[in-house]
Amino acid sequence: MKSVHASVQDQFSQHADYYAQSSVHAKGNTLNVLLDFADPKGTEQTLDIATGTGFTAFALAPKVAYVVATDLTPVMVEKAVELAREQAIRNIAFSVAAAEALPFADASLDLVTCRLAPHHFQDVRAFLSEVHRVLRTDGLFCMTDSVSPESERLITWQNRVETLRDNSHAYGYPPSQWDAMITDAGFSLERTAHARNAQISFLWWVRPQKNPPEVVQEIRDAFAELSPEEAREYYTVQAEGDDFYFSWPTYTVKARRR
Ligand SMILES: C[S@@+](CC[C@H](N)C(=O)[O-])C[C@H]1O[C@@H](n2cnc3c(N)ncnc32)[C@H](O)[C@@H]1O
Repeated sequence: MKSVHASVQDQFSQHADYYAQSSVHAKGNTLNVLLDFADPKGTEQTLDIATGTGFTAFALAPKVAYVVATDLTPVMVEKAVELAREQAIRNIAFSVAAAEALPFADASLDLVTCRLAPHHFQDVRAFLSEVHRVLRTDGLFCMTDSVSPESERLITWQNRVETLRDNSHAYGYPPSQWDAMITDAGFSLERTAHARNAQISFLWWVRPQKNPPEVVQEIRDAFAELSPEEAREYYTVQAEGDDFYFSWPTYTVKARRR
């Protein structure tokens, strides 16, 4: 079986141009919440982990001293380098690196961010331990990601559906498990925010050009298994002809390294 890292690299190597043009990733309200939580003062040596094509790193660059942007997928990093050059961003550097093995010295950074990526990580505890290691004492860690609801049934349901659609999905934890893991890794939680991403078209999201019809049908059937209350409350499902729109819950955390 392929490792999670290999699946991530396969998946994202094919989608660098799509991500570079995705308004969900370019803007999305998770970016504003993350920037608000980070509240940079202009002096921070910053690391953006799993930067993708660089949206979060580019938004941080004018607000901090320096940003290093890392990602596991070389093609995504190449695209981010190209975009940074086009936008004439000078206080930025890039590196291909796994979130679970960061190529930085202990206590060398003031701020670490990570947006819409940890659900792809092979080993979230190793990621948190690395963030703790590279941050100085009292440094800030700000993270935002899609999460599962606090329900055993829906944790299983959501991870099954996400993995069916995209085998680079590793695991979406519920907020309570994130809180426990972040605290166990040596951080104090300062702020948290629950929100959701924008309504997504099922027919767009399920990538019919990539996933075979039987997989698309299996995912559609899985949505039909939700009770009307689950569909409405947790996933804001709204029917529209052959299609339907839905959203995932998101969670943002501001944590200080102890
Ligand atoms: C949705 S994109 C990230 C979006 C980006 N953070 C932003 O704000 O626009 C997810 C990224 O996570 C990266 N990734 C997945 N697993 C990783 C890991 N273990 N270490 C580092 N990067 C990883 C992928 O290569 C991909 O570029």
